[in-house]
Parts: sequence; C-alpha cells; structure tokens
Amino acid sequence: MTTRPRILVSLPVALPGDLRAELAARFDIVDLPCGSRPADALPADVRAGIQGQLITPHSRVDQDLMQSLPGLRVSSNCSVGYDNVDVAAANRHKVLICNTPNVLNGAVADVVVGLMLCLARNLVAGDAFVRSGAWTRGPFPLTHDIRGKTFGLLGMGRIGRVVARSVQAFDMKVTYHNRRRDDEAETLGLASYVDRDTLFREADVLCVLIPLNAETRHCVGAREFGMMKPTAYLINTARGAVLDEAALIDALRGGKIAGAGLDVMETEPLPADSPLCSLPNVVLQAHVGSATHETRRAMSELAVQNLIDALTGVRPTAMVNPELWD
Ligand code: DGY
Repeated sequence: MTTRPRILVSLPVALPGDLRAELAARFDIVDLPCGSRPADALPADVRAGIQGQLITPHSRVDQDLMQSLPGLRVSSNCSVGYDNVDVAAANRHKVLICNTPNVLNGAVADVVVGLMLCLARNLVAGDAFVRSGAWTRGPFPLTHDIRGKTFGLLGMGRIGRVVARSVQAFDMKVTYHNRRRDDEAETLGLASYVDRDTLFREADVLCVLIPLNAETRHCVGAREFGMMKPTAYLINTARGAVLDEAALIDALRGGKIAGAGLDVMETEPLPADSPLCSLPNVVLQAHVGSATHETRRAMSELAVQNLIDALTGVRPTAMVNPELWD
C-alpha cells in the first residue's frame, strides 16, 4: 500500500473549498490552528510523516520547527514576505521555501497610493469633520497638493515598480534607492536613481518597500527622519520592524516629518494603547496591503500550486531558495 504524502495546513482563514479539494485529492491534510507550533499540538508520529506545509507569516519556520518536522521537504508561504523563515536553517535542513510574489503587486501599490492621499489631503480627519457636524461651524483646514512633488522609493522590486507607475499618474517625480540599480525600471522611465541620503532629503513622500531581514531591521531611524523635510510623509507597507518605531514616534511628535501612513507595525495586531494610535498625523491600516478577495485568492492559488508542484516533482513557480531545487 502506498501512503500519500501528509501536509500541514495552518492559515488564519479557511482555504477556499476548491483549493482545499485540490490538496485533499493528493495529500493527507493535517490542520493546525494558525499560530500553534506543531511540536506543541501534534503527536510525534503525526509530525514525522509531514512532508509539506501551507502557512502564512504567522508561522515561524526555524530550526526548532524543522527539528519537530523531520520529514519536511517544502514550506509554502502564502505571502511574498518570508521574514518568518530562517532561510539558512531551511537550507541546512533541505527544506524548499516557496512564496507568492507578483500577484499582490497591484493591491499593495493601491494601499500606498491610498495612504498618500489620506496623508496629503487629510481625508480621514475630513470624514470625522463632516460626521461630527464641525463643518456647520466653519470650513475644513486647507491641505497639500501631491502633484509636482517628489515620491521617493526605498526599494525597487516588483511592488516598487507598480507603485512608481501608479504615482506617475499623479504627475509626481519618482526617485528610488535600492542596493542594486534597476536599469530596466530606469530605461522604462519609472524612476531615477539617487543615493540613499538624497532619497530621504528630497522626497515629499517617502515609501519604504524593502524586505525585513537582519540587515534591514530598524534601518530607517532617527538619522533618516532627521534628514527628511518637515513637510514630508513616510509610508510603510513592507514590514513594521524595517523602521525604528520609537524613533518614528519621536519624529512625528517633534515635527521632524509631517506624517506617516503605516500598514505594518513592529507589533501586530497593534495594541490600542500604542502611541501611534493617538498621533493625529498618522494614518493606520491593519496590514491589509494584499487583503482583497481577488488578491488573496490569487495568493492562495499560487501557494497551493507551489506546494503541489514541489511535492510532485514539478519545479514550483516561486521559490525563495531555488538553489535547493536546482
Ligand atoms: C505579504 O505577502 O508579505 C503580505 O505582507 C502579507 O503578509
């Protein structure tokens, strides 16, 4: 009798029925509540047979996890970011890591544009102003144009390119800084390259779009906020810990920058007593960059397909450590 590969599914929301059926047709599925560690929730004999897992950044993929799942061959992350994964440990344990790039570019770019408009035109406060009846006592304070201003991108990857194209529709000049220059983006006229300090000094809107890793943790802090214009806005849709949040709060309180639009924070979910929640020059979102029906569906499809491919000998579309496959 041939035994079917066993996989672990640990997601914050249920997988669409048809995608779950695709997995169930090939594999035995073990469900694990999102956030639980297999070693705490599953007996050793069940863990021993697990060859693949479908997870989100809520699950850590580290040395302990791989020791508790000794048969693990592939971890399919339903997200583009993989800061939840210790890639060096995965390579040591020969665990292929897959993710979901590209399909979420537009959705994340839309949130960047939304945050920018909320900040410059004070749209969130404007809504409260009308609802409270304050309008009957006088007009809403004037806000700021974004047209003709400079949009600076820290990071020029797949999402950065879509953001650059989107903000060009607002007649903005787009600059970027990236570890590697993106000649193609420059040739396409999407953005012009500047050094890192110039990016911070000249941007009217500065958008952080770099992945979180040991090198980028807290890489934007007091020094960078000190270089920014006091009229500038900062937007972060990448990962909260890329910014030094305490330094950001100081910069916002001290008027070093005009405001911040944050879809991601160092602690998620953000507690209501965070100083960020009481700052009037901050617009907050609940890590929703990719959270539309259409985009989450596309991410789930890709993550499921990556897992099926990897376990059935087909080269997956999106791998973080492809050298392991090759
Ligand atoms: C991603 O895909 O990395 C999004 O931030 C969702 O976690």
